Amino acid sequence: MSETAELRVGDKTLELNVIEGSEGEKAIDITKLRAQTGYITLDPGYANSGSCQSAITFIDGEEGILRYRGIPIEELSAQSNFMEVCYLLIHGKLPTETELSDYEDTIRRHTMLHEDFKQMFSALPKDAHPMAACSTMVGALSTFYPDSLDPRDPEEVEISANRLIAKLPTLAAYAYNHSIGMPFLYPQNDLDYVGNFLRMMFGNPCEDFEVDPVVRNALDLLFILHAEHEQNCSTSTTRLVGSSMVNLFGTISAAINALWGPLHGGANQSVIEMLEAIHEEGTSPRDYLERAKSGDESARLMGFGHRVYKNFDPRAKVIKKACDDVLERMGIHSPLLEIAKELEEITLKDDYFVERKLYPNVDFYSGVIYNAIGTPANMFTAMFAIGRLPGWIAQWKELHSDPAFKIGRPRQVYTGPTKTAYTPMDQR
Ligand code: CMC
Repeated sequence: MSETAELRVGDKTLELNVIEGSEGEKAIDITKLRAQTGYITLDPGYANSGSCQSAITFIDGEEGILRYRGIPIEELSAQSNFMEVCYLLIHGKLPTETELSDYEDTIRRHTMLHEDFKQMFSALPKDAHPMAACSTMVGALSTFYPDSLDPRDPEEVEISANRLIAKLPTLAAYAYNHSIGMPFLYPQNDLDYVGNFLRMMFGNPCEDFEVDPVVRNALDLLFILHAEHEQNCSTSTTRLVGSSMVNLFGTISAAINALWGPLHGGANQSVIEMLEAIHEEGTSPRDYLERAKSGDESARLMGFGHRVYKNFDPRAKVIKKACDDVLERMGIHSPLLEIAKELEEITLKDDYFVERKLYPNVDFYSGVIYNAIGTPANMFTAMFAIGRLPGWIAQWKELHSDPAFKIGRPRQVYTGPTKTAYTPMDQR
């Protein structure tokens, strides 16, 4: 007999079904709660609320486990590559050799943008943040491709998904080049996905561009580690916005904005800005740490802590090693990295951080790697977005194929004034 839970509300006792996931996670099904009792649940920040059942990503925050479609992140990081991970997430299984090469070929053929995008970029101010530019341009894709906007048509969804995966690196690179007044490079499709992006970002039309394999591999790894993370803020945005039946481009534009915030994907930019501030002000990492502990929000230790991971972030473990390798192989020694290392060392021994289970998260090390490979800080989050895109698409597709599909519409507990008569202007 399956497990149930009992809830007593007023004089009513309700028997609620318990749903069990494939890894033993349990949830109390409250779908009938309001209809049967008139009550709702209240869970600010949704820390205890499951919004869906999903077969894409498994996370165990206590044990530091992260798996995409069942495969541990450590195995994917060591043996796979970002294109294969995109396929795995979006199509639900690892591709055969032919499926992968067909997929890579399809993505390669969609990397170019409509020429009119150049005019759209030129209309943006030079100092437009790349995340604002990316969300604007991704939203604009819906105006260029009215032929693939129907969320119920699998072929239209597939072509939109391919266009997004192919074009986001081009858009992100254009956003960066626009901000520094450099010409836009067309994609060069004999390069692989990551190499092509690096050339469009850092190359120029006057010289050949050689892809540095150390940088390429580091970025491919970062994309894999960022590719999916179940119901985080931008993915929940994807599901909520997507549930209105808007097209995929409109949804992803919203997700990019959600990712931009400094408590989410924007943390990687904030990490470097924090390290720079510590360096420029001549503050010691220890003093900065003390400020962070005092609750001074302006000194929150960016790149530390996580809503779900309470022992360690498995992505941070993989990335820390890559970070050390990249820095060593590129022979980079910078004061910012010294500060980063010292902060990491002292926080791991500090009671405040240990008691609250605050460890370096993926953004702490990714910021350091992006900086080491010469990426400007305002591009870090756009690179995170390229990595997270397959996860958003996979979740969007899963939402639309869910038999329990419903528009997302949470409730609230109203705390404003009770019925109040309108006061005419002359009596206020
Ligand atoms: N520095 C100093 N204190 C912190 C930090 C931090 N980075 N993170 C949490 N705390 C403290 C917080 O003040 C609170 O203390 P107290 O119990 O005394 O009130 C306690 O730890 C619990 O924190 P919380 O804010 O309730 O935890 P949360 O689960 O709501 O927040 C978080 C998680 C990631 C938003 C938060 O840890 C944070 O702001 N970290 C810095 C930003 C960051 O690195 N974000 C990237 C997250 S990983 C990638 C991603 O999701 O995009």
